[in-house]
Parts: sequence; C-alpha cells; structure tokens
Amino acid sequence: MTIDWDAEAAEKAGYEHFMLKEMYEQPKTVADTAGPRIKKNDIVIEELGMTDEEILQVKKIHIVACGSAYHAGVSGKYVLEGMARIPVEVDLASEFRYRDPILEDGAMVIVISQSGETADSLAALREAKKRGFKVLGIVNVVGSSIAREADNVMYTWAGPEIAVATTKAYSAQLIALYLLAMKFARVRHTVTEEEFSEMLGDLRRLPDQIELLLNNKNRIQRFANRYIAAKEVFFIGRGIDYAISMEGSLKLKEISYIHSEAYAAGELKHGTISLIEEGTLVAAVATQPALFQKTISNMVEVKARGAFVLAVTCEGNREIEKAADYVIYIPITNRFFTNSLAIIPLQLFSYYVAVGKGCDVDKPRNLAKSVTVE
Ligand code: M6R
Repeated sequence: MTIDWDAEAAEKAGYEHFMLKEMYEQPKTVADTAGPRIKKNDIVIEELGMTDEEILQVKKIHIVACGSAYHAGVSGKYVLEGMARIPVEVDLASEFRYRDPILEDGAMVIVISQSGETADSLAALREAKKRGFKVLGIVNVVGSSIAREADNVMYTWAGPEIAVATTKAYSAQLIALYLLAMKFARVRHTVTEEEFSEMLGDLRRLPDQIELLLNNKNRIQRFANRYIAAKEVFFIGRGIDYAISMEGSLKLKEISYIHSEAYAAGELKHGTISLIEEGTLVAAVATQPALFQKTISNMVEVKARGAFVLAVTCEGNREIEKAADYVIYIPITNRFFTNSLAIIPLQLFSYYVAVGKGCDVDKPRNLAKSVTVE
C-alpha cells in the first residue's frame, strides 16, 4: 500500500522542535481534515458508510480512546450532545475493555487514535466488534491496525506526527468530531438550515483564526517564562472548556514535568481548592456564553485564595479582566468550536515552559509515541 505522506513532512524544516513545527501545521491540518468533506453547502462523509436512515436510528454513541484522543472524545461528547442531541458516553479504552460495558441496540462505537496502534484502544475496538457492534475509527495513520480492523475509517489528515505530545492530530480529531456532529444534526433536524450554514462558515474560518493565535507566540512565551519554576498548575473550565482544560493540563505535565490537574470549575470547592495558595497558577478557560458568569465566580474564588489567574476567553468578554491577572483572547467562533482555538495558547504555553526548563520537548521521559503494550 502506498501512503502519500511526503518525506519533508517528517523533517523539522528549520523549527527547533517537531512539536513547534506540528503546532504550526495546525491551520493546514484543520483545513485538510474539513475541506474535502465540505461539499457545496453540505457535509459529506462517504467513509462513514451510513445512510441518513441509519443515522436516524443511532440511539447512543460510545467514544473510546486514550490520552489526548480521549480528551478530543470528551469535547466530542459536548458537541454531539449539544448539536445533534444524541447521548454520548466517553470511555478510556483501558476501562472500557474490562468493564463489561452495556452496549444496547442502536449504539454506535467510535474509537479515536492518532497512531491506530494503541493497545488498549485496539482491544476496546475488538471488544465492541465481538459484541456485534460496528466500529467507526477516527484515525491518523493510514493502514494502521485500528484503521484496518474498524468497520469504517474516517481519517484525520494530519500527516506524520513525530513529537510525542500530540498537537495537530488532536486538532484534526476535534474537526472530525465537529463534522460528524454537524452531519448528524442536519439529518436529525436538530439545527436549522440557517444555523448549519453559519456553522459551515465558522468551520471554514478556523484555519485562519488558528494562524492568528499562533502568531501571538511571543507574548505567550514571555508569560511562560515566568512559570518555569512552577510546582503545580491547575486548569479549570466548564462544559467544553473543561475538555480543553484536560488537554491543556496533559500537555503541560507530559512535556514540562510540572504537576498539573484539570478540574471542572464547579467541582473545585469539593476539595481541590484547598491546594490553592499564594501564587498558584490557575488557567481558567471561559469560552461558553452560558457558563461565563459561573466560571468567573470560580476565578474570583481562587483569586481570593492567592491564585494567579490566567484566563482564556473569546474576544469581547472584557468583563473577565476583573477576575483575571492575565487574559488571552481567542477570535469569535461557534460555541461548539472554541476548543480548536483555545487549545492553541495552552499548547504554546506548555511548549515554552518545557523549552525554558530545558526539557526534551519532543521525547519526554518515560513516554512513547505509540503505546502498543498494556
Ligand atoms: O495514538 P493514540 O492517539 O491512540 O495515542 C493515545 C495517547 O497515547 C496519546 O494521545 C498520548 O496521551 C499523547 N502523549 C498525548 O500528547
């Protein structure tokens, strides 16, 4: 089988690290993953292998994955449920495979994986198939085990990803999930035609907006340099912002070795807030209009206990400045797509903290690019 990835894609092309190069490839990745599936004013996902009738019969979606792919799945849950009104359960593959999951008629299983070789994800796929359910793989590596064993494969066209910490493949996974949600929402009439075409417009604008955020790297680098000696960092958010926080936190800990946790902002007061002390960095993501005020209250709570609050929010939300010490604004987009923009400054932040600490950014200790063993 010939895979048409060019050799240049696996070289650093003048960038200091693969991770930086791959972050900069995200506008292209997003465009490549979405573009071919946007036909005129519709979303066409031929690889899905499902008729509209079959889409209407889906009663529940199970998303199974590991690591960042799992975080994309958590984001996908909010998007699919919010947009297409289908219940979604997200499982870590290592849990799904052993918990004797309840899969009922009308269930659809989606396995997400960059490498397509992650042992737990592959085992989860086999478990679902053994029980007679069809599996859709959202996979980056063409011809990988998950791609071969899934009933249908929706490829993320991110190209080869070399850095252990995923950036562009995660961004492509988000896009694949948005496309699915939009497709399902249109077929199930849970969005109006007007809303659908507005979403298409927003989807098309994402690559340029990501580019804009990447161009802001110097400001984020300066900020990151202040946190090289941090002992721990918390990421908080609600809804989709919680999913972004999980990924932001994983990026930081895996490459900079700084302990970090992501919390659903409303859950902080149930224990974790006791860890906040003078100077603790709390990154608060607040992109969801309906949850904005709630997250601001949580920011005020941690600030009152001495935290330094970094906020990531949408342009125009100036009110956040009263509760934050440092604000990063992302361009306006559909509320379901904010993850694709808010994750960019968090990736850059992690990268520059790790570089500042002198860490081996592309090959963090104890980690492998594909986890092919249990
Ligand atoms: O290849 P996969 O997407 O199946 O890999 C899953 C995880 O191992 C992976 O996302 C891991 O968490 C990365 N190091 C995250 O940057």
